[in-house]
Amino acid sequence: MKILVINGPNLNMLGIREPDIYGKEDYNALCGMINAHCRRLGIEVEIFQSNHEGEIVDKIQSAYKKFDGIVINPAAYTHTSVAIPDAIKAVGIPAVEVHISDVSRREPYRRVSYVREACVGSVVGEGFGGYTRAIDLLAFGEKEGGRL
Ligand code: DQA
Repeated sequence: MKILVINGPNLNMLGIREPDIYGKEDYNALCGMINAHCRRLGIEVEIFQSNHEGEIVDKIQSAYKKFDGIVINPAAYTHTSVAIPDAIKAVGIPAVEVHISDVSRREPYRRVSYVREACVGSVVGEGFGGYTRAIDLLAFGEKEGGRL
């Protein structure tokens, strides 16, 4: 199985940006955790980060017929982008949306997710562990992964 993990704008600033919300661990630590989890499960993984909406759309398009699942934290584009969910629907690859923080308990504008309807699941407010949960959801389905 091949999974593509996509991280949107400012997630490269983890550890520096708002540590009370996103934690003190940096982006490298997040990548290390994802890589270790996939290695344990025998999953091939590629991790991509961009601060640019068009680059994220390009990356999703390039996954067509190459990846079996997508884990995506679109970050701020969650609440604004129509192009990202359109790209997920275009390639037809099962995708799970992840948010490190609990977006349902923050500013009202963060409660809107345009990406959610293009995804088979969402994991919200579980910190970095949300990414491994999302990978499990894609690898094992609803039962063990637990749809949230
Ligand atoms: C985020 C939540 C978004 O609202 C915010 O813009 C982010 C990160 C999260 O992981 O909690 O950049 O997606």
